[in-house]
Amino acid sequence: AQVDNSLFLHIDKSKTKINKEIYGHFAEHLGRCIYGGIFVGDTSSIPNINGYRKDVVEALKEIHIPVLRWPGGCFADTYHWKDGIGPREDRPSIVNVFWGGVTEDNSFGTHEFLDLCELIGTEAYISLNVGSGSVQEASEWVEYITSENISPMTDLRKENGREDPWNVKFWGIGNESWGCGGDLSPEYYGDLFRRYASYARGAEYKIACGANSFDYDWTEQVMNKTKNKQHLMQGLSLHYYTLPYNWKKKGSATNFDEKEWFVTLKKTMRMQELIDNHSRIMRKYDPNNKVGLIVDEWGTWYDVEEGTNPGFLYQQNTLRDALVAGINLNIFNNNAETVKMANIAQVVNVLQAIILTEGKEMVLTPTYHVFNMYKVHQDATMIPMDLVCDNYKFEEEEIPAISASASIKDGVVSITLCNLNPNESEDLSINIGDSKYSDISGKIITGDKMGDYNDFGKEPKVVLNDLKVKSPKNGKLNMTLPSKSVVLIQLK
Ligand code: AHR
Repeated sequence: AQVDNSLFLHIDKSKTKINKEIYGHFAEHLGRCIYGGIFVGDTSSIPNINGYRKDVVEALKEIHIPVLRWPGGCFADTYHWKDGIGPREDRPSIVNVFWGGVTEDNSFGTHEFLDLCELIGTEAYISLNVGSGSVQEASEWVEYITSENISPMTDLRKENGREDPWNVKFWGIGNESWGCGGDLSPEYYGDLFRRYASYARGAEYKIACGANSFDYDWTEQVMNKTKNKQHLMQGLSLHYYTLPYNWKKKGSATNFDEKEWFVTLKKTMRMQELIDNHSRIMRKYDPNNKVGLIVDEWGTWYDVEEGTNPGFLYQQNTLRDALVAGINLNIFNNNAETVKMANIAQVVNVLQAIILTEGKEMVLTPTYHVFNMYKVHQDATMIPMDLVCDNYKFEEEEIPAISASASIKDGVVSITLCNLNPNESEDLSINIGDSKYSDISGKIITGDKMGDYNDFGKEPKVVLNDLKVKSPKNGKLNMTLPSKSVVLIQLK
């Protein structure tokens, strides 16, 4: 080690709540996310509750999934919600133009989605169609879902079997309007946002379409167009995916060397730079920090698995993905004052999925176990910290070897740590000041190899295990972080 790794926790300075929505997910009509992954229909031989896979529902409940974004993604700006209500046999079939050109039979629509949210106890986040829809269509959808009034839309909802409105707080006004959502300029989108948001009456928390990664001009123009209209806008989104290489050749999900491991983690760490730069622009127009940054698409994006439909974005998930998740979630926790929600893409069978399915079988990926480990941070208070650590060097480049965040809830301190170095363990001294804790526990996610993953029909290789930790002495807890690991320490 080049330096003595140390972490100082300022427990007495804790004040910012880590919104549970930072642990959010995303389900799009894409590949086998909805159909086969979540919904199999009530006549399926796969065990289900009203058509929802029982195994998936239970796995989602276990990690306390706080919010689920739907119906897209790019699909959202092609989606006409009235196609997905009423008797299933009467619903029209459409072509899913963005994702594989497959037939979408609309058997999973508004009621199916919102009933799922109630079943797993999660909030819903719905993306309205700005790209190919109309203001009337969007406004009627909000009314259908949220209104208590007597109106043609609420009558229709009742006819379809739902008497009471649903409680849906989060609404997205278009998705990637700079790209698949209409290829709009930021100035034009800014005006459209104002129009759609004005008529989305009943939508409590409205999220404007924000930038693609490093496109700071988009943030500047949209914020400028909407300045003094912040009663219409509660959040601005950001999309940032981690690709080892580029859009033409992204890299394999499972077959990679240390160079790709290093590059993937290095690019993941740029999330901090994105949050700093986008929020700086936002604060120029919104000095009182009223508009939250909503990172509603993040995660790894690799080449699809061989033999699968390229439009389905199906990829495996290794220990490297666990590190990507751990690092991103630590960054979101540490920026909880700015980041009000985040949604990993996507929940089942698509991109950095927490769950994979094949017929009746289900696999919990390394990323799932990170969400299970980190759930202790949901709605906890973030603990500010000072971290001094070694660098992890690869060839001519280097990045910090450790990523960390901490929170306190009901007197329990939770510290999550990642050791990015795949070859060396790191000793760490955690300074907890004068605080007295007698009960210390630990958990760990690691594996023998960087590319270890959990496969169908095989003993899982990357799981959540207990970790032995020594009790603190003189306010210091000394521990060793194994190479390529994600760790949770709890002090009670
Ligand atoms: O998550 C897959 C796609 O990535 C989404 O549909 C789109 O919003 C983004 O480009």
